[in-house]
Amino acid sequence: MKLTHLPVELLRYILGLKNNDHLDINTFITIRQGKTGLIKLTEIYRTLESELAMVEEGLESAIDLDVPLLYETSTHLLKAGGKRIRPLFVLLSGHFGQYDRNSLIKIAIALELIHMATLVHDDVIDDALTRRGEMTVKSKWDNKIAMYTGDYIFSKGLMIVTEFSVPSVHRMLSNAIYEMVKGEIEQIKDLYQTSISLREYFRRIKRKTALLISVSCELGAAVSGATPKTTALLRKFGYYVGMAFQITDDILDYVGTEKELGKPAGSDLKQGNITLPAIYALCHSERRAELHRWITLKQIEDNIGEIIAIIRNSGGIEYSRKMARRYLQKAKVCLNQLADIPAKESLLNITAFIEERNF
Ligand code: IPE
Ligand code: IPE
Ligand code: MG
Ligand code: MG
Repeated sequence: MKLTHLPVELLRYILGLKNNDHLDINTFITIRQGKTGLIKLTEIYRTLESELAMVEEGLESAIDLDVPLLYETSTHLLKAGGKRIRPLFVLLSGHFGQYDRNSLIKIAIALELIHMATLVHDDVIDDALTRRGEMTVKSKWDNKIAMYTGDYIFSKGLMIVTEFSVPSVHRMLSNAIYEMVKGEIEQIKDLYQTSISLREYFRRIKRKTALLISVSCELGAAVSGATPKTTALLRKFGYYVGMAFQITDDILDYVGTEKELGKPAGSDLKQGNITLPAIYALCHSERRAELHRWITLKQIEDNIGEIIAIIRNSGGIEYSRKMARRYLQKAKVCLNQLADIPAKESLLNITAFIEERNF
């Protein structure tokens, strides 16, 4: 029996299966049961099967063998899997133009590398021990090595983009990276600040996450020669979807499990990072005074059980889901204005995946 019609190798990458893990129908069903939305995602992978296989190859060959330590650290993260959602956005958006396959694959590889680089850096900032179900580079090696691994993967992504001579490609990408850095540094500045406003939160997630997803869609359309109107619609679509993506990531930190997420749950607040569910609770929970006190005094770890209960009981999770849905609705309005081609259905499927995902 065929698993999903996808090459088993590709599935192994995406699911982060190790070399000696056998992938048969039972393993797949078990993984599927644990991952809400995986079927929707696999459907999309299936439509882009050969391109995604080329993206995987490109990711592997982007990493140099002649720098053994960096090869080891980068391959460690690469082989741990990942959803490859940014490549999906690039490739699907390309269908709204003339689908310049080679250019799209290059852009998709570059964007995944840039994303991976930010994960390595982010795990240093967040002191995270696991990522994609494996030890983080910072925990398996150390912060210094993680710093250069991130820079290394970043530079590899940028090297691929040098093959494009259109200045706008570089402008879009460098701007997204610039904004992402601002988002991550704002997050550090805002740690333990219980007075953080919704506006500040939304601005921060726009910078750290939504813009790179937006650029994935925009570049996919632009390098395929889509019309300026179509390109702009896809950019907007990516922005809304990216906002929803980070909101769901922030919700999952409160409701997910480490097994589902491949990274520790409940770690945002332990780090002092106040995300949407907590912001809501700080304003609306009847126990908000305690919550303010514990966060401000940095007594989070000692009271983590109660703090999570306060946030969960405050309605903050439901509110955050509502906000994610609102962004996804706006994304769908953009989609509606695009041509009726199969890629549109896949993009719609991604919005559904984001709404229901637990990984
Ligand atoms: C994690 O991104 C960081 C965020 C922007 C929320 P992903 O959830 O896309 O991570 P991988 O690539 O699948 O591991
Ligand atoms: C997204 O934020 C990180 C980047 C944009 C690099 P998070 O800190 O929430 O991401 P995770 O939860 O560690 O994947
Ligand atoms: Mg993090
Ligand atoms: Mg997170």
